[in-house]
Amino acid sequence: MESITLNNGVKMPILGFGVYQISARECERCVFDAIDVGYRSIDTAQVYGNEKEVGIAIRKSGVLRENLFITTKLYIPYSGYRKAVNAIDQSLRTMKLDYIDLLLMHEPFHDYHGIYRAMEEAYQSGKIRAIGVSNFNPDVFMDLVESCNVIPAVNQVETHVFRQQAQAQEIMKQYGTQIESWAPFAEGKNHFFSNETLREIGQKYDKSNAQVGLRYLIQRGIVVIPKSTHRERMIENMDVFDFTLSDNDMAKIALLDEGRSLFSWY
Ligand SMILES: NC(=O)c1ccc[n+]([C@@H]2O[C@H](COP(=O)([O-])OP(=O)(O)OC[C@H]3O[C@@H](n4cnc5c(N)ncnc54)[C@H](OP(=O)(O)O)[C@@H]3O)[C@@H](O)[C@H]2O)c1
Repeated sequence: MESITLNNGVKMPILGFGVYQISARECERCVFDAIDVGYRSIDTAQVYGNEKEVGIAIRKSGVLRENLFITTKLYIPYSGYRKAVNAIDQSLRTMKLDYIDLLLMHEPFHDYHGIYRAMEEAYQSGKIRAIGVSNFNPDVFMDLVESCNVIPAVNQVETHVFRQQAQAQEIMKQYGTQIESWAPFAEGKNHFFSNETLREIGQKYDKSNAQVGLRYLIQRGIVVIPKSTHRERMIENMDVFDFTLSDNDMAKIALLDEGRSLFSWY
């Protein structure tokens, strides 16, 4: 698996497995399957309600902890520093992990400065290998980076062929923050899986729309974490490292950008 190096030297796989909207009942099997077929990076969150099952699957997988990269996200909307300190320990306890590879603040919550301070302390104490944010649009992202001590290693934002985030990526790059895509398939919105442009390009390489969409983001240096509950799709979504989209293909896909969110909450 190819990886990127974060701004603190920690290596992160460029492709991982997301577990949003996977019920606690199904999550253990899905994460076990994902690790079994070769994923080494798992993206969960407190609000997904499946951290415990992610932890169980990790232990059952038999893969050494140091060979896995586990991300979770703090979800504490109406709180600040003090609650964040407890929430970080809660995630470690729920997953039964000694450390988390990447901890993100799920959204720019009310007191995001206070919450981020707690994350910086957890990072400095060694509980967390890298810290970052999610859903920080450029204005609020810059407000945080201008005042924090530890520049976010990652900003996870809605990124797919219909919302390409080129300008936001450029701003993050100036600060050494890695952009990570959530919903790399736009959760199937806009008829992603039958889009004609992706289909035509995919036919040249014998690849699906899903694979072309992921490859496009990877070639732009964006970390991707596709979700699927189907083992065969998990395999398909990982099979994106044996072809390269041409400059012409990249230019055609760039034209699909609508420059707006397809999700009502951002
Ligand atoms: N930070 C945030 O606020 C935030 C928000 C949203 C998501 N995320 C993270 O990003 C991850 C990915 O985003 P997402 O889960 O929202 O959506 P996504 O990965 O864009 O799309 C998932 C959907 O695509 C389907 N699918 C997957 N592979 C497929 C394939 N090869 N062919 C056809 N259909 C396929 C899945 O169905 P099946 O499961 O039935 O295969 C599911 O309905 C999440 O799991 C989560 O970890 C973060």
